[in-house]
Amino acid sequence: MNGAATKLIDLTGKSILVTGGGGGLAADMGALFVDLGARVLLADIAEDAAMAIAGRIGAGAKGIGCDISDERSVEKLARFVSAEFGAIDALINNAAHADIAADLDLLATDTAVWDRTMQVNLRGTMLVSRAILPLMINNGGGAVVTVVSRQGIAPPLSGMRVAYGTSKAALVMLARHIAVTYGKRGIRSNAVAPGTIETERMLATLSQERLAQSRANVLTPYLGAPEDISNCIAFLVSDAGRYITGQVIQVDGGVLTGLHE
Ligand SMILES: NC(=O)c1ccc[n+]([C@@H]2O[C@H](COP(=O)([O-])OP(=O)(O)OC[C@H]3O[C@@H](n4cnc5c(N)ncnc54)[C@H](O)[C@@H]3O)[C@@H](O)[C@H]2O)c1
Repeated sequence: MNGAATKLIDLTGKSILVTGGGGGLAADMGALFVDLGARVLLADIAEDAAMAIAGRIGAGAKGIGCDISDERSVEKLARFVSAEFGAIDALINNAAHADIAADLDLLATDTAVWDRTMQVNLRGTMLVSRAILPLMINNGGGAVVTVVSRQGIAPPLSGMRVAYGTSKAALVMLARHIAVTYGKRGIRSNAVAPGTIETERMLATLSQERLAQSRANVLTPYLGAPEDISNCIAFLVSDAGRYITGQVIQVDGGVLTGLHE
């Protein structure tokens, strides 16, 4: 039972690996996890970005280079995790490739764009999960959170992002597979599906018109901020989330709940 003075989300003593650790959402997540008592490893193909974010967070965070689509690189990451942490409590599958300019509708998208998106988002997330899960199982269990997308649940009516959306939809199944298969060995696995989140990258890449449309589409008076995703993930990996597994949690301002008519 909760005591009045109990902190709802407490990550004290937990070791957490975040892929795509050099990106906008990971920077916020890493800082929150460390604030809540965890040790965090940020892994990114952009090693400098991961290192810089870890440096800004300070003690408790480390950055490392890793291309999740490359099996050798992932094996190296797993060895580092093993040596550095010994045990691992949570994996956040957050790295993603999104080719905003060239990932269009099915007829307009090059095979190379499709292949790279699948290679990173799907193959890469599979490789990392497969390499890290045994460390978690040997440690008595843990939590996996796979960051998917609203676009992996309902395709945009504009017909954009066929590769990205399809890769994220497939990741929902990977997240459920993990939940169903390893649940009795203490593994919880959930997917978090963000809607439009005002990261620096989003604000820099989306036009004012597109942002205004996104603001109009959500049910809340505002678009989400990185901490909206971090808070949800922190809850899921904490002991407060211990009965939540096999779910897709939409953190999207309810954008898919109503019809835009
Ligand atoms: N920001 C949003 O509005 C939003 C919306 C829906 C879903 N998401 C998802 O949230 C997650 C984080 O998004 P973000 O906004 O922080 O994006 P971001 O582009 O800032 O971060 C993604 C990170 O993944 C890294 N990455 C790409 N390929 C990699 C590879 N092969 N190996 C290792 N790392 C690689 C990139 O270098 C980057 O640092 C992604 O999975 C994204 O699809 C974000």
